[in-house]
Amino acid sequence: MTFQTHLQPSGHSFPIEANETILEAAIKHGYTLPYSCRDGVCGTCKGKVVSGQVDYGKYQDSTLTEAEKTAGMALFCCAKPLSDLTLECREVNAVKDIPIKIMPCRVHKMERPAPDVMVLSLKLPTNERLQFLAGQYIDILLKDQQPRSFSLANAPHSDEFLELHIRNISGGAFTHHVFEQMKERDILRFKGPLGTFFLREDSAKPIIFVASGTGFAPIKAIIEHALFIGVKRPMHFYWGARKLADLYMLDKAKLWESSGIKFTPVLSDAIAEDNWQGRTGFVHQAVLDDYRDLSEQEVYACGAPIVVEAAHRDFTTQRGLPNEAFFSDAFTYAPKK
Ligand SMILES: Cc1cc2nc3c(=O)[nH]c(=O)nc-3n(C[C@H](O)[C@H](O)[C@H](O)COP(=O)(O)OP(=O)(O)OC[C@H]3O[C@@H](n4cnc5c(N)ncnc54)[C@H](O)[C@@H]3O)c2cc1C
Ligand code: FES
Repeated sequence: MTFQTHLQPSGHSFPIEANETILEAAIKHGYTLPYSCRDGVCGTCKGKVVSGQVDYGKYQDSTLTEAEKTAGMALFCCAKPLSDLTLECREVNAVKDIPIKIMPCRVHKMERPAPDVMVLSLKLPTNERLQFLAGQYIDILLKDQQPRSFSLANAPHSDEFLELHIRNISGGAFTHHVFEQMKERDILRFKGPLGTFFLREDSAKPIIFVASGTGFAPIKAIIEHALFIGVKRPMHFYWGARKLADLYMLDKAKLWESSGIKFTPVLSDAIAEDNWQGRTGFVHQAVLDDYRDLSEQEVYACGAPIVVEAAHRDFTTQRGLPNEAFFSDAFTYAPKK
């Protein structure tokens, strides 16, 4: 059965099948809505159903509360239509003309800057390039398993190799393979670019970047892109990790300071050998301590879901950050098959 979907305020319309999620149908018809995990966990795709009924689908309870459902909200990556729909949501025009491709690539180089972080350089076939926006991610396609998402850590201007920063997950099938079995010259397949985490270049607001762990990867891509195109907005980068070794590209982040980007590393569990004299505690708390008012800022947050969630909640409720000035990719686990 086919229904009609109307988007507000853009006025765009598209057909949607009863078995399609709102996000799938929108993308199929050339309209990109904000999204990240596509699994009902991160909340990036939350929007309002102004009229019509939806099947809310399967999602994490804390991501969409009963009160939000009563207020008409739904997660567009999970919700399917039960009638014609009118939806209120932002569209993300910057990515709509970028083709999403499935491509092979070769593992060109593997480097391990920290015990549980692997940096992969991936080479595309000769004469192939991947068009993407700094901050987007790709899905590594695996035989008989759900795809695994990883952010591109390189900026588009430096695209000879695609760079991924992969954290070893205890019990994680793919990351275990990367650390234990993968070799240089192995072949992978991926789909991308995906997601709507990228620098909003039409804004003049100062920027705060918040990364936890390998959440550094897309922030690195965005900062390198911003420096390349000469963005003049004030930028402050907070990088949180447990101990010093987890700040696996500390020298790079420190180098950006000479280009005017303020850098605040924050450790939550520094060990004695770290001899850490810097900031301690949770990385989002460091932002709260430094900024009493975020109403005129933009925040780009990436990494552990708990950090991204806390940043969104506390920045919007305690520091006046507008919801639409918060951009994030929460590094959720791949959905179970
Ligand atoms: C948009 C996006 C971008 C991301 N970018 C990055 C990035 O740049 N770098 C990065 O390091 N990570 C990133 N991630 C996170 C990464 O995709 C996940 O950590 C991924 O699931 C790791 O794959 P894996 O196969 O190693 O672990 P998985 O096999 O997916 O396992 C993850 C966890 O679930 C548990 N688990 C798995 N199956 C079961 C089961 N049947 N029952 C119980 N428990 C189970 C495992 O023990 C493990 O703890 C990103 C995620 C998203 C959504
Ligand atoms: S909850 Fe829908 S994209 Fe993450």
